[in-house]
Amino acid sequence: CSSVTSSIFSSSSTSSIIMAEEAKKLAAYAAVDNHVQNNQVVGVGSGSTIVYAVDRLAERVRLEKLNIVCVPTSFQARQLVLQHGLPLSDLDRHPELDVAIDGADEVDAGLTLIKGGGGCLTQEKIVAACAKQFIVIADYRKDSAALGEQWKKGVPVEVIPMAYVPVSRRIARRFGGEAALRMAVSKAGPVVTDNGNFILDWKFEGAQNWKEVNMHIKMIPGVVETGLFVGMAERAYFGMEDGSVRVRD
Ligand code: 5RP
Repeated sequence: CSSVTSSIFSSSSTSSIIMAEEAKKLAAYAAVDNHVQNNQVVGVGSGSTIVYAVDRLAERVRLEKLNIVCVPTSFQARQLVLQHGLPLSDLDRHPELDVAIDGADEVDAGLTLIKGGGGCLTQEKIVAACAKQFIVIADYRKDSAALGEQWKKGVPVEVIPMAYVPVSRRIARRFGGEAALRMAVSKAGPVVTDNGNFILDWKFEGAQNWKEVNMHIKMIPGVVETGLFVGMAERAYFGMEDGSVRVRD
């Protein structure tokens, strides 16, 4: 009996993974096709959804002879750009981007985002802030009426290592919930970001004024950046289970 149950479970979870991957690809392709043009500087986000966007960028460069340069938001994004043979740049050479495309952990009805599931929130926010257009790509599981309804891991906050305990206590004291140090999967130690910092994942309680929360957390000494992206995204593309793409402006 238990083996029947587990085989049913594994086949349905496998098909939902395939569906989510297809949905990521739909969103990524739609964003690249609608927002990237010739002679543009493109910000490349981090995570698993952006992989499809870089695939599509490379395809368009090959087929349409599109001329673009890419500014990555992480070591992972930089590797992706290089592996696809796309021209690599940085904010020194291109401090103004035409468009930045990135994934998200959750997107609410007003286009406020939680980002940083992969720990790259600081560079992601910097690059997004330098872009004329910041476009989000995600599968249907990230689409949410209010933050916290879908994404249960909390808001990531990048902190200077020596400050993680006081920052965690101040966040919990002021806003409730718990801000826990993100540990490596091996549990051997904390996750260390591309910038050499730690991540706190703040599990909040209830609805919040995200603009204020973001400002207050950023003011705590030791905080580098939060994974709250408020008023930054211009549009989100969600790949849906039925093969359609939902657009939110
Ligand atoms: C990394 C991020 C990612 O964009 C976010 O976690 C979404 O990732 P994925 O596309 O794998 O769902 O913010 O810091």
